[in-house]
Amino acid sequence: MSLVQIHDKEFELFISKKELESIVDQMAKKMESLQSQAPVFIVVLNGSFFFASDLLKALSFDSEVHFIKVKSYEGMESSGKMNLSLDINVDISNRTIVILEDIIDTGTTLHYLINHLQEKNPKKIITASLLFKPNAYKQEHTIDFIGKSIENDFVVGYGLDYDELGRTLPQIFKLKHD
Ligand code: IMP
Ligand code: MG
Repeated sequence: MSLVQIHDKEFELFISKKELESIVDQMAKKMESLQSQAPVFIVVLNGSFFFASDLLKALSFDSEVHFIKVKSYEGMESSGKMNLSLDINVDISNRTIVILEDIIDTGTTLHYLINHLQEKNPKKIITASLLFKPNAYKQEHTIDFIGKSIENDFVVGYGLDYDELGRTLPQIFKLKHD
């Protein structure tokens, strides 16, 4: 299946299951160095659930995992307004936390999350994202772990949605331009 229709748009295959597996496994290997810090993983819902699930299974050490839900996108545009509909309710003071994002585009969501989590006094905030759009990024924060940098294409699948659909596709597809 190399083309899919979601709502009114057509998407073409972009990142295969095999490539996703290798991206996630490589990131897990790099994260092994975090074990001594006993990091708390914070999964940003909804988009990061496939990525986080595969990444955390690929890690050789056990960790605490918590979920936060924030939304800025409407359709294919970042709305700019942040809506936090689920917060973590655990004490992260003096802990190393790792934010797990599906994709970082303008960085608005990440910036908001870093400010929000900083108020809970963690020792250190580490950031990781499966995908990164460097040409869209407008923030200063360094992203510590990047799975793959991509062009400013709109992508779906492996957790990522277009108006709530496309998330369950096991590969990543990008918007087809005709
Ligand atoms: P940012 O705040 O502009 O960095 O956008 C971050 C959030 O927007 C991500 O966590 C996604 O939920 C969503 N997003 C950004 N780019 C895409 C895309 O290409 N496809 C689907 N969702 C996206
Ligand atoms: Mg997201």
